[in-house]
Amino acid sequence: MFYDPRNDVHGLAHNPWTALIVPRPIGWISSLSEKGVANLAPYSFFNAVSGVPPFVMFSSAGRKDSQINIEATGEFVVNMATGDLKDALNITSASVEAEVDEFELAGLEKADCINVRAPRVKAAPVALECILNKAVSLNAQDGTKVRSDVIFGEVVGIHISDSVIVDGMLDIKKLRPLSRLGYMDYAIVDEVFPMSRPKT
Ligand SMILES: Cc1cc2nc3c(=O)[nH]c(=O)nc-3n(C[C@H](O)[C@H](O)[C@H](O)COP(=O)(O)O)c2cc1C
Repeated sequence: MFYDPRNDVHGLAHNPWTALIVPRPIGWISSLSEKGVANLAPYSFFNAVSGVPPFVMFSSAGRKDSQINIEATGEFVVNMATGDLKDALNITSASVEAEVDEFELAGLEKADCINVRAPRVKAAPVALECILNKAVSLNAQDGTKVRSDVIFGEVVGIHISDSVIVDGMLDIKKLRPLSRLGYMDYAIVDEVFPMSRPKT
């Protein structure tokens, strides 16, 4: 089959788009509002975009609390979502007022960061402290403004739990990262195989 998403006529029972780019890592974004209220929400339009220096991005479909906070304070944290934390993560995706602290809503303990004021999820084995680099708005090819903005952050602090480091490397079987698939589906990464690049 083929379809042109500008017409949205895929002919399937459900829009296939989010099932086409899978698995997606989930950036579990924590931030602080201008008033100092902590915020936490998952974003699966998320990825690393540069290694040196490390940069990440996520996209927000509409100006949600995370984007509002990050633009106001210039900071955020990306917490790693894991299989063990999936139910708490789901709770933090609820559409709640800006005054609601989703850490409290999900019963998650906070931990302090070093280089940013926003808190991190204490139970997350990895947390990336980020400084806002820029928020980019997009226009579609016909000129209309795209609903989603893309937020780029430079990573200025990296927390890794000693419990997931084995022989100097992060052990995926201990991390069990959570990823987003299409529709309402998720996958936990717990199977790994090595493959070296050709030597030519
Ligand atoms: C696994 C998962 C991934 C999500 N990814 C995104 C995303 O990439 N972009 C987005 O705008 N919303 C995404 N959402 C929805 C937001 O988490 C939700 O709108 C949340 O209430 C936003 O919180 P905030 O207003 O505190 O930022 C996702 C939800 C879940 C459960």
